[in-house]
Amino acid sequence: MKKVYIETMGCQMNKSDTERMLGMLSAFNYEETSEPKEADLLMVNTCSIRQLSEDKAFSLIGTWGKWKQSRPDLVIGVCGCVAQQKADTIFKRAPYVNFVLGTHKIYSLPEILKQVEKGEKVCECTETNATEDGQAKNYGIKRVKSMNAWINITEGCNNFCTYCIVPYTRGRERSRRPEIILKEAKDALDAGFKEITLLGQNVDSYGKDFTDINYRLSNLLSDLNSMEGKFRIRFVTSYPTDITDELIETARSLDKVCEYFHIPMQSGSSEVLKKMNRRYDRETYAKIVKKVRDMIPDVTITSDFIAGFPGETEEQFEETLTAIDEFALDYSNVAAYSPREKTVAARWVDKYIPEDVKAERFQRLNRKVQENCLKSNLKYVGRDMEVLVESFYLRKGKHINTGKTRNNKTVHIPGDSDLTGKFVNVRITGAKTWYLQGMLHETEK
Ligand code: SAH
Ligand code: SF4
Ligand code: F3S
Repeated sequence: MKKVYIETMGCQMNKSDTERMLGMLSAFNYEETSEPKEADLLMVNTCSIRQLSEDKAFSLIGTWGKWKQSRPDLVIGVCGCVAQQKADTIFKRAPYVNFVLGTHKIYSLPEILKQVEKGEKVCECTETNATEDGQAKNYGIKRVKSMNAWINITEGCNNFCTYCIVPYTRGRERSRRPEIILKEAKDALDAGFKEITLLGQNVDSYGKDFTDINYRLSNLLSDLNSMEGKFRIRFVTSYPTDITDELIETARSLDKVCEYFHIPMQSGSSEVLKKMNRRYDRETYAKIVKKVRDMIPDVTITSDFIAGFPGETEEQFEETLTAIDEFALDYSNVAAYSPREKTVAARWVDKYIPEDVKAERFQRLNRKVQENCLKSNLKYVGRDMEVLVESFYLRKGKHINTGKTRNNKTVHIPGDSDLTGKFVNVRITGAKTWYLQGMLHETEK
């Protein structure tokens, strides 16, 4: 057996690809190691959403290149979004890299390794409009040990928001076949996973591209919901204006589908949203959030925001702060704008916001997110909630079980027995910014 180490950067898409590549590699006599120095094959699954993510990848590759000076047999591979975007120019910058594998054809990995063994340098970054479902059938998926199995249902994105590189690194949107998704879900449940999260840049578009069947996200949720056993279902990410009434109604009525929507808003200002090429304004976003909240009690709604988009004025930025309050967003990911190659907004150099202003807005945005997170958590003090326990550990001399509620709140539950993998009923006794404190009900002890 040879050893492989994969460093995964970026989003769940990459994490999911890594699990697939590890599944493939295990069929070719590679076992995973968590110790890069022990590996025969080193791979980095890269992210290019911001310049910083890309720089991080090149810095790691550089370190590995140095190791190779004393270990010439070491094989180094670069995959993921930076690979797709930079293709064979990576060899110029890092000549010690053996192969570059883009995001479109990860199932070429075994073939690539054969060529690398013959001493060739290989770059496979061909774009396709097809999914890799055919090959996916032939290999297992080596999932990270946890309660939650992530299953991608769409690949790529057609939205071309002016700041975003994803359509260039992941290609056009395409849906995976329902039978493959349902099989992957069944395998995960049989293996003991208790939560299935359906994954896509825009999950509400799922199935739009099928020509032979009429099958959308609501159908998929219903089919998953009817699978046997106690488990939870989630889906991310939702594009605001693609959330249909039917989807909200389906999510509300199916018992396994959790009360949780991730609906990135990106900016609270309608003018900025227009420049971002988002297809909604502040009022439309407000209506969607209201509808989801009205139809689904206790729903958690989270968002993403960008601080310092080109041309963003102080007033427009403040509209983002007020949006978080007005829509009572439970949590938001926050990023400072980073210009990305090929994207439209990157050309607006004369409108770039100075770094210090961007950093200051980023911090104010973070403080607002924290404030609202605590506010949102305080609502649940005194309530009874179901928690799926995900881990058990010792902290400051006390044992704690940590898990998630259906609406995706983290709960810390003191107690001496390990309840990992169990659904327990908990009384919420306190709230902090990032988590709730809970106590087991008598019957659960
Ligand atoms: N499909 C999702 C987003 C995927 S990218 C959606 O439409 O919301 C994840 C997040 O990264 C985005 O929501 C955005 O907030 C952030 N992001 C994307 N490009 C960025 C850039 N150039 N600079 C800073 N943040 C960016
Ligand atoms: Fe990027 Fe916009 Fe697509 Fe999300 S919807 S992945 S932000 S282009
Ligand atoms: Fe994800 Fe980063 Fe690519 S966020 S889709 S890994 S650019």
